[in-house]
Amino acid sequence: MTPESQSRRTRELCALAPVIPVLVVPDAAGAVDLATALIGGGLPVLEVTLRSDAALPAIRAMAGVPGGHVGAGTVLSATDVYRAKEAGATFCVAPGLTDALVAACEDAALPLLPGVATPTEAMIARDHGYDMLKLFPAEVVGGVALLRALNGPLPMLSFCPTGGITADNAGSYLSLPNVLAVGGSWVAPDADQRAGNWTAIGDRARVAARLREGTSRKSGA
Ligand code: 3PG
Repeated sequence: MTPESQSRRTRELCALAPVIPVLVVPDAAGAVDLATALIGGGLPVLEVTLRSDAALPAIRAMAGVPGGHVGAGTVLSATDVYRAKEAGATFCVAPGLTDALVAACEDAALPLLPGVATPTEAMIARDHGYDMLKLFPAEVVGGVALLRALNGPLPMLSFCPTGGITADNAGSYLSLPNVLAVGGSWVAPDADQRAGNWTAIGDRARVAARLREGTSRKSGA
């Protein structure tokens, strides 16, 4: 799967909802309830970060929940790519971009949303064939102002910013022409997951799913 077709797929995924929950799952036993709450709340695209022992079993369990698109996040190596694919992930997200990731995602036919933080990194990702990128860590590297500035010389690139995005600042990002969706952990915090508070997570998902309505850019624009 070429980087160009990978980016076509990640663009499609980012068009499905304004927010991709970035999940650190403490216990795979709650994975199906977690995915059900998020998907039911209107957020069908889920990123399960490979930061906990529960991540791969959680991906495997969530992949069976109807209506969802489950990907792996914090994918750092070719091994991560193959493990994610084997667990049932249908896309992967990385904080950066390496030649090893490019090769593994082509080989595994797993769409990659690669992370960038600077114009040069964005240009290198574009040289590889990726035009749908994650800006990370968004708030630290310039946030809304950086994305607005990048859209001048690099209007062919679209972004899913993550890192420091909240319910309060997500709308500013989503109003930008080069932002298709945002990622964030605020929708499913650790405390709610550990407490099995799926209602609170579902309620937060419902609010997040409507975020684009509050911006000048509407869904499908
Ligand atoms: C991450 O990889 O940590 C994500 O970008 C989520 O960041 P957040 O916790 O600031 O939402």
